[in-house]
Amino acid sequence: MQPIDLRSDTVTLPSPAMRQAMATAEVGDDVMGEDPTVNRLEAMAAERLGKEAAVFVVSGTMGNLVALLAHCGRGEEMIVGDNAHIFMYEAGGSSALGGIHSRQVPNQTDGTLDLTGIEAAIRSDNPHYPRSRLICLENTHNRCGGACLTPDYMGRVRALADKHDLRFHLDGARVFNASVALGVKVTELTRHADSVMFCLSKGLSAPIGSLVCGRADFIHEARRARKVVGGSMRQVGIIAAAGIFALENMVDRMAEDHDNGRRLAEGLAEIKGIVLDPTRVQTNIVFFDLQGHTPAAQTFCHDLAARGVKMLPTGERRVRAVTHYGIERTDIEKSLEIISRFMR
Ligand SMILES: Cc1ncc(COP(=O)(O)O)c(C=O)c1O
Repeated sequence: MQPIDLRSDTVTLPSPAMRQAMATAEVGDDVMGEDPTVNRLEAMAAERLGKEAAVFVVSGTMGNLVALLAHCGRGEEMIVGDNAHIFMYEAGGSSALGGIHSRQVPNQTDGTLDLTGIEAAIRSDNPHYPRSRLICLENTHNRCGGACLTPDYMGRVRALADKHDLRFHLDGARVFNASVALGVKVTELTRHADSVMFCLSKGLSAPIGSLVCGRADFIHEARRARKVVGGSMRQVGIIAAAGIFALENMVDRMAEDHDNGRRLAEGLAEIKGIVLDPTRVQTNIVFFDLQGHTPAAQTFCHDLAARGVKMLPTGERRVRAVTHYGIERTDIEKSLEIISRFMR
């Protein structure tokens, strides 16, 4: 039996139609600007997000990195959530490669940063301090359980950035999930940010790729940064074609993943030994805690995998499950049945 893999939305496989689009893609040398499929994807991404231009990169991590390198010089500071992917899981790349100093503001449980907390973190002009340059947000927020930041909140952060002459980067790895879940156009979520990175390889189900979008002069700089980190590619229309297919066909269907996420959360909340508040689940990411008498998260996930359901331990007693393309409602019901039996 195929395991039900709920570890991440990055485990999605390309559909036959997506593979067909890849196989027939027109290609050229993208470093020379001659890959028509990449050019189409970049134009499409910029248009979708309401930005002037876009650059195609291999991963979300590289996308965030090139954006940060384009925004900040060495010794300059970015304000970032203490649970942000950029801060937690990108190997400190902005610091290692860009000399960018980070100032963490605690993420609230809804994924936001308290506005007064952001303002307090902004440095005054003093030779002792690094220069504040950038505010980073994440939408949806991974470690905050796929929480959606609202257009109103994003607008308030924009106002703060303008007041202090700072730039604003959005890690929008799952910004289309937020747009679908909130029922707002994605541009409502992206228009306040100077730059946005989004991933094709998560809920949108492409095998690879992310885009960084922003003003044309900013993307020019990001393209240089992509070169520095060795991320310029050649006949990559083959993978860009999957991205075009994803943007055209895989966005609206994510509502199904969110429904499945909610059902999973509701079912899990009824199982003894599992603690979560299902009303907090807005998109496709479900975190839950294991009570003291149950096995720790590592053991729980290991033993559950042997029973056919894969989840990700993310803390001593914390587990993450993510719904995605390829996971049907029947898989959710089956997983709940298996977990329920296992916990008994
Ligand atoms: C919010 C967020 N940003 C960035 C990334 C990085 O994407 P990648 O794994 O493609 O480098 C991830 C990956 O899970 C993520 O969840």
